[in-house]
Amino acid sequence: MKALILVGGFGTRLRPLTLSLPKPLVEFCNKPTVVHQIEALVEAGVDHVILGVGYRADIMETELKKHEERLGIKISLSYEDEPLGTAGPLALAREMLLENPEKPFFVLNADVVCGYPFKNMLDFHSKHGCEGTICVTKVEEPSRYGVVVYADDGKIDRFVEKPSSFVSNKINAGLYLFNTTILERIELKPTSIEKKIFPEMCKEAELYAMELPGYWMDVGQPKDFVIGSSLYLDHVSRTKPEILCKNQSCLGNVLVDKSATIGRNCQIGPDVVIGPDCVIEDGVCLQKTTVMQGCRIGSHTWINNSIVGWRCKIGKWVRMEGVSVLGEDVTIRDELYINGGRILPHKEIGDSIPNPAIIM
Ligand code: GDD
Ligand code: MG
Repeated sequence: MKALILVGGFGTRLRPLTLSLPKPLVEFCNKPTVVHQIEALVEAGVDHVILGVGYRADIMETELKKHEERLGIKISLSYEDEPLGTAGPLALAREMLLENPEKPFFVLNADVVCGYPFKNMLDFHSKHGCEGTICVTKVEEPSRYGVVVYADDGKIDRFVEKPSSFVSNKINAGLYLFNTTILERIELKPTSIEKKIFPEMCKEAELYAMELPGYWMDVGQPKDFVIGSSLYLDHVSRTKPEILCKNQSCLGNVLVDKSATIGRNCQIGPDVVIGPDCVIEDGVCLQKTTVMQGCRIGSHTWINNSIVGWRCKIGKWVRMEGVSVLGEDVTIRDELYINGGRILPHKEIGDSIPNPAIIM
């Protein structure tokens, strides 16, 4: 079985992290988002994953080769010369998708995290027997998403992408399962699956909604990345608690790579992720924060609600909060206060940032 992952956007909302790596390769809870997805697809029986890529294909290729071998599957890159939107990439990968014309294939937005109920989707899809299944979930701010109106049996009446007035609070979760006949609807040109293809399929009663069990988040922007990490860790605490940190300085759900070191008298958690090779000095306090590979956090520093990119050096007695995001290799001098700072890679910061600001 095949799956196509849409990895083409520029990830501008997740800058400065996406200045260093394409969004699907940014580690979410110590693993690239797209690798969380690929592993779940493989468990559901997928043996060929196609990545619809728009830029930085070289970096994607090198990273994904490793996983191709490890997981024993085929991973292909389908490269776009111009961005083809969310439907065009299906037309571009047409030949590969038609290798098994009778089998449905998955399509995923690369930035969504959830329990990936791919097996449930396969059951649901074969029961209704129509062309497409999309997963839906409930959110409080539906206007940022594709909104779905459907009957009790799941048949979708309306699909409205980013509605300006309230339609429903059930939204498109960005996980689909389609019969290959959908390819007859899509031309090889920039096309939005949400604005063009889904409304057409609804009219013909060919699109069904499956309600997603459990948590869901689009982690394509920092605030949601932080919330998504908490939801993921909560999920892990119930499904695989053995991978969470048992260190006495950890409170609540905390994930720490085994190569990281934590000093004395720290308070780590709740909802903290620490990547490989990090050094957390004595007396550090971290909450609702991700610290990516190779960072050093100086003693008595306090960080809440933030993302620290790869190889940053944060001084002693620093206070950081307000969804601050540090790009790769940022240095923060001792005793500074950073509130909502978005700091571009390789900067050295010598003054406090008391109000949200982008530092270039
Ligand atoms: N290959 C390719 N080419 N991929 C693309 C392109 C393109 O031109 N443009 C966007 N993508 C990929 C993005 O990388 C992402 O994985 C996915 O398509 C969706 O794009 P986003 O930019 O993240 O869209 P969104 O978050 O505003 O909205 C989408 O996701 C919501 C759920 O998170 C829509 O599908 C909404 O309907 C949905 O509710
Ligand atoms: Mg998105």
